[in-house]
Amino acid sequence: MNSSEIRKNFLDYFNKRGHAVVPSSSLIPDDPSVLLTTAGMQQFKKYYTGEADALKDFCSKSTASIQKSFRTSDIDEVGDESHLTFFEMLGNFSFGGYFKREAITYAHEFITKVMQLPISYVTVFEGSATVPKDEESRAIWQELGIVDIREEGMDDVFWGPTGTSGPCGPTAEIYCKNASGKDIEVWNIVFNQFMCSGSREELLSGNATLSPLDIFGIDTGMGLERLAMISQSTKTIFETDLFSPLMDLLPQSMDVRTKRIIADHARGTAFLLSEGVQPSNKERGYVLRRLLRRIIVHEYLAHETPFPLENILSAAVREYRGFYPELNEQTVLKEFATEKEKFLKTLKNGLKELQKLENLTPQNAFKLYESYGLPFEIIKEIGGDRAASLSRASFDEEFKKHQEISRAGLEKKFGGHGLLLDTGELKAKDEQELKIVTRLHTATHLLQQALRTVLGEAVSQKGSDITVERTRFDFSFDRKLMPEEIQEVEQVINDIIQKDLPVQKVELPIDEAKKTGALYFFSAKGGSASGGKEKYPDHVNIYFVGNSLEEAFSKEFCGGPHVTRTGEIGKVKIAKEEAVAAGIRRIRAVVE
Ligand code: GLY
Repeated sequence: MNSSEIRKNFLDYFNKRGHAVVPSSSLIPDDPSVLLTTAGMQQFKKYYTGEADALKDFCSKSTASIQKSFRTSDIDEVGDESHLTFFEMLGNFSFGGYFKREAITYAHEFITKVMQLPISYVTVFEGSATVPKDEESRAIWQELGIVDIREEGMDDVFWGPTGTSGPCGPTAEIYCKNASGKDIEVWNIVFNQFMCSGSREELLSGNATLSPLDIFGIDTGMGLERLAMISQSTKTIFETDLFSPLMDLLPQSMDVRTKRIIADHARGTAFLLSEGVQPSNKERGYVLRRLLRRIIVHEYLAHETPFPLENILSAAVREYRGFYPELNEQTVLKEFATEKEKFLKTLKNGLKELQKLENLTPQNAFKLYESYGLPFEIIKEIGGDRAASLSRASFDEEFKKHQEISRAGLEKKFGGHGLLLDTGELKAKDEQELKIVTRLHTATHLLQQALRTVLGEAVSQKGSDITVERTRFDFSFDRKLMPEEIQEVEQVINDIIQKDLPVQKVELPIDEAKKTGALYFFSAKGGSASGGKEKYPDHVNIYFVGNSLEEAFSKEFCGGPHVTRTGEIGKVKIAKEEAVAAGIRRIRAVVE
C-alpha cells in the first residue's frame, strides 16, 4: 500500500468507528516545557486530565490523527535503517470512552485485515513495584489468537509522561517483520491510567509519583514510515515511497548512511522552516541549525559529484504538500540560502582546523563549534577515529560550562595592569593614549548608530575593544558589507563629526533610562559577546550625541569617557570589515 493509501485507510477505519478526525497540530507545541511535538497525544493532554471535554470539542470521546512529530533523542542514530528525526505518527485516542479491549481489538484488526500483515509478536507490561502486571491485555491478545506474547518493563512498555508532568501508563506493542526478516515495532498502544507528578526521567529514577486518573484513556502511536516499510516489503524505511523520491536525487556513489541523513534532515528542515522556526543557537532554532549545517557540510564535501540540496528540499515540499499544505517552498529555499551563505564563510576554515587536531576532546570540539559553527555531528563524523571518545553528553556539558563562564564574565574589570585606564573596553597607559582612546570611544558610538542607520536595526553590539591604535567593534549582521555600504557608514559618521555636535551625559533611574531608547550592552571582559542575565545598577549614565536627548543622533548606556564635542574626534576611517563567527561581523576603525 502506498503511503497516501495508508493515511487514508487509517483515518477512514477509525472514523467509521466513531472517531473524530483531528488535523495534526503544529510541530511547535503549546506546552512550553516541550521543545517540539514528539507524539500524537500531546495536543490531547488536557482531555486525559479532565481540563477539557472531548465530547464538547469533537462531538466524540475518541479521535484519530496523523501527527507531524520530531524527536531529537534519535538524532545520533539517523543513518541506520529505521531512525528518524521527523516522522508521521498515526494515532487513535480515547478520553474516557473505550479502553484495553477495544484498543487492542482495533489495532489487531487494522494490521491483520486492513493492512493484511502478519503480526510477529506483541508485548505487555511485566509489572513494577507500583503498577501491576498487565494480565488483562495478555488475555485479550490470547483471545485474538496471538501466540507470541512477551513481557517487558518500564523502559520499553511504559509510556510518558511528555514534558514536566502528565498522563502516562503501561503499553502494549505490535511487532511485524520487514523484508529482511527483522522484527520492527510498528504500533504502541498506551493505556493512560496515571497522572505522573514529574518527568519521565524522574519517574524512572523513583523521584515522581503516580496517582490514578479519573478518566482512563487510550493513546496510540504508529510510525507511518515503519508501517510503509512493512507494507511495501522493503528492507529499510528509506526504500519506501516516502523516501525514495528524495534518495533518488542523491548521487549513486554517495555512501548510503549519508544519503539517509540528508533525506531525513531535508524533510525535517522543510517542515521546521515552514512552521516558522529560524536557525539560531537556542532551543528549536539550534535543532534546525544542526540539521541544516549537517546537510550543507555533506553538500560541500560532495563537490566531485555535486547534488544541489535545493532540489532535495523542493522535492520534500512537493512530496508532502498534498497532505500538509502549510509547506512553503519559497520560505524553505530562502531561509536555506541565508543559512548556507552564513555557514559557508566559516566552514572551510573550520574543517581545516578540524583536520589539524590529533585528538578531539569536548573542549576543542566546542571550540570548533563556537568559532566556526561546526555542529557536533559533523565533528564526530569527520573526526572519525580521532573523535571516538567524544560523546554528545560531554559536548553538551562543555556547552553548558561555557554559558556559565560567559555569564560570570559580565562583571566589569578595572585596573590592575599598570594602565592608566582599563575599563575592559578601553585601555590606555598614559594621558596621551587616554586622549586617543577617548576619541575612538565616541567614534565607536557613532559607528554603531551609523551601522544601524545604513544596515537597519538588526545590527547590535556584540563586543568592543579599544586601544590606542584602533577601535574594534563586533556586531550582529549576517553577511559581508558591500564597499558602498562601508563608504556610506563612514560618510554618516564624518557628517556628524563635521557638525561638531555636543556629547552629553545624563544620569537616570534604570527604568526611565531604558524608555529613552538608548542602546545598552554590558560588555564582558575585553568586550566579548554578551550572554545571560545582565545586572544593571539602579541608576545609569546615558551618553548622547546631539543637542537634546530626544533628538540625539546616538544614545547609549555608558560609563565614558567621551570627548565633549564630535569635532574633536577627527576623521574616522574603517580599516577592515570581516566575519568573526557565523552572524557576527567585526569592524576595525581608526581616527585620523
Ligand atoms: N504516545 C504513544 C507513542 O507515541 O508511541
